[in-house]
Amino acid sequence: MTDSPLLVSDRDAVRTITVNRPDKLNALNAATLDALHLAFDEAAADADVRAIVLTGAGPKAFVAGADIAEMATLTPVQARDFSLRGQRMMRAVERLPKPVIAMINGFALGGGLELAMCCHLRIAADTAKVGQPEINLGLIPGFGGTQRLLRLAGRAATLELCLLGAPIDAARAQQLGIVNRVVPGAQLEEETMKLATQLASAAPLASRGILDCVNSGGECAIEEGLAFESAQFGLIFATEDMREGTTAFLERRKPAFNGR
Ligand code: COA
Repeated sequence: MTDSPLLVSDRDAVRTITVNRPDKLNALNAATLDALHLAFDEAAADADVRAIVLTGAGPKAFVAGADIAEMATLTPVQARDFSLRGQRMMRAVERLPKPVIAMINGFALGGGLELAMCCHLRIAADTAKVGQPEINLGLIPGFGGTQRLLRLAGRAATLELCLLGAPIDAARAQQLGIVNRVVPGAQLEEETMKLATQLASAAPLASRGILDCVNSGGECAIEEGLAFESAQFGLIFATEDMREGTTAFLERRKPAFNGR
């Protein structure tokens, strides 16, 4: 598709999905939200894909937010639908059974930070800036920002970022637990691919079990989360990969996981 707002490429078992509207700093319009949803569904369904990297095209931005030009004229009903559209896509990313890394190569603002936060890991260039600046437009975050930031970085950081609307740099974002790693911009791609390759070589059903436990555990009481973890732990003993991993350890060799 030539007019897709995304670029999709594979290197071995790592799929890279790039939001490709660099002239608009990769702002998320409705077409891009839908294309992302579809691209992540396809990545989930493709057995050859074991890890996904999400990034933005061009030197300046990961994603500079929801598309303000498109949003400016929405009615309240359309705005609610736009919010739900973004939330549904981001929830699908969060619940993907394969690890997703946000490679934050520049501005991740508003919907851009929301998109990064629904990914499982975040690695940022030292020059990146993240924030929830919606308040400066008289808006509030609408793709889950108030909720995911709260869970990721706590109440104080969430209120600071959302109420003040000022972007913070990558180092501060790491201090607050919003990003996992910060690397020099020139090394961002290489470091991200190293991380993605490591994730892609892990036992896929174990990765999936961990993602399921963390996703579900964040949303229920600890007793339920622990019960879910035990059930998943038992289930993993039905996999060939678990036998292979433990046998390989005992035989002092590298395991070869096959995803069964
Ligand atoms: N929605 C739509 N278009 C956007 C956009 C967004 N969220 N962010 C940037 N753009 C567009 C600009 O309108 C501009 O388009 P134009 O060249 O057709 O005029 C282009 O991207 C480049 O942006 P520009 O503002 O000229 O770049 P800059 O380097 O001067 O500033 C930012 C960069 C990120 C500080 C600035 O673009 C910005 O504040 N963007 C909005 C961030 C925001 O509020 N996001 C939350 C939205 S709810």
